[in-house]
Amino acid sequence: MKKARVTITQRWLVNSLGAIFIVLMSVLLAFSVFINFYFTSSARQYITSRINMISGMLQQSYSDNSLSFTSDIRSIVENWSERDKTELMTINSRGDVTMTSSGFAPTKEILAQDYYDAVESGASGYFMGKLASGEKIIAVSVVTPDKSGDYSVIRLVSSMKNIDKSIASYIIAAAFICCAILALMMFSGMYFVKSIVIPVRQLGATARRYARGDFSVRIPVKSDDEMGELCEIVNKMADGLSQSEAMKNEFISSVSHELRTPLTAIKGWAETIGSMPDDRETVSKGMRVITAETERLSQMVEELLDFSRMQNGKFTLTKDNVDILAELGDAVLIYTEKARKEGIELVYTEPEDLPIVYGDRNRLRQVFINVIDNAIKYSEKGGLVTVTAAVTQDSRIEIEVSDTGCGISPEDLPKIKTKFFRANHNKRGSGIGLAVADEIMTMHGGSMEIFSEQGTGTSVVISLPIKTK
Ligand SMILES: Nc1ncnc2c1ncn2[C@@H]1O[C@H](COP(=O)(O)OP(=O)(O)OP(=O)(O)O)[C@@H](O)[C@H]1O
Ligand SMILES: [Mg+2]
Repeated sequence: MKKARVTITQRWLVNSLGAIFIVLMSVLLAFSVFINFYFTSSARQYITSRINMISGMLQQSYSDNSLSFTSDIRSIVENWSERDKTELMTINSRGDVTMTSSGFAPTKEILAQDYYDAVESGASGYFMGKLASGEKIIAVSVVTPDKSGDYSVIRLVSSMKNIDKSIASYIIAAAFICCAILALMMFSGMYFVKSIVIPVRQLGATARRYARGDFSVRIPVKSDDEMGELCEIVNKMADGLSQSEAMKNEFISSVSHELRTPLTAIKGWAETIGSMPDDRETVSKGMRVITAETERLSQMVEELLDFSRMQNGKFTLTKDNVDILAELGDAVLIYTEKARKEGIELVYTEPEDLPIVYGDRNRLRQVFINVIDNAIKYSEKGGLVTVTAAVTQDSRIEIEVSDTGCGISPEDLPKIKTKFFRANHNKRGSGIGLAVADEIMTMHGGSMEIFSEQGTGTSVVISLPIKTK
């Protein structure tokens, strides 16, 4: 079963947004705990300070004059100024509420742990929580000096409703801010992710077309960042691929053509000989052509095989001492007849002597043949091809083959050593001659430089190291 693909967007949602969500939730939780603590402790502080103030006043009144104590406590409760926020009450020694600041007599259920703690300890008590009625309150009780009378305990009570409401509204506001931050992160993140995901999808779709061999499309480069650079590289790659694809196709068609021409000649002559086997002259002429064409064919196949070996990295040299003078002389000799037939003058200024080179004799001859072949092939009738050889000051053998042919344009010049590349489509060729020659030169530690001027001629300079010791 194929594993479901996790998209960049999904990964971003889980990794990045997920982490932010967890952080925000933790902050919200911490804030809620803090705000709850802050409000309840403030309420407790407030209510405690109030009751302490009253208790102080009562202590004072009792020690001044215990007879006026009752009227003092009554007046304090009746005139309690903060009755809208809190309720002040007095409780007698039997546990009954004797007086309230609101004036309403409450039921006994309103007493809570604060009262019992105060009575038990003979000092004070605090309570925050729910009553049996379900109402949430905060309360403090303090024992008065009138221990056995009607006002043995005073108590200050406040409902937690408003405080809880404030806490809730703060938490809701904080939650809202968290949601807003999350939404903002999501939008900005989405924008960012899209700026990557959309071009990546486009790249993918285009690359798939390239994989199918369709190089007609290019990716629009929309940004100046890494993504734009990647698109540019892919476009360049497509240019290169489509060019080499076109060159390969052209190579196949030109090679087939090259192979067909000698085959046509061989077939034609074979049929002629077959139809007139007794005509000695025709037979011998035909046999000559057949032999020559067969030779050409096998040379071509040899060149193709060399090229294919070169591509596979299996191209090897059989090295020995080579007399360059002899090999160059051979190559010139092979082309003397051809040049004469085509009305091209081939001038070879043969040097007296040339030092020995350590290399592969057949391969080196092949290089000379390829270069001379080009010089003649790309020259017109009446042209001049000169071949010279000399030893340079830095102890290398330099062979120069110059022609007065069509030349090569400056744009094509850097590419002509590339496989399958042909600058001139008027002449037949497969575009591998110079690629093979260049490889052979490199393998000999030599070099092949080409100088050319369009319409004037071309000069190929081959340089080889001399064998030392
Ligand atoms: N002497 C030259 N004058 C002008 N153009 C040349 C010359 N030598 C090479 N070129 C250009 O360089 C191209 C590549 O040469 P190369 O020898 O690699 O291929 P080719 O001659 O076309 O085919 P082949 O594989 O049969 O040699 C040629 O197609 C031609 O356009
Ligand atoms: Mg050639």
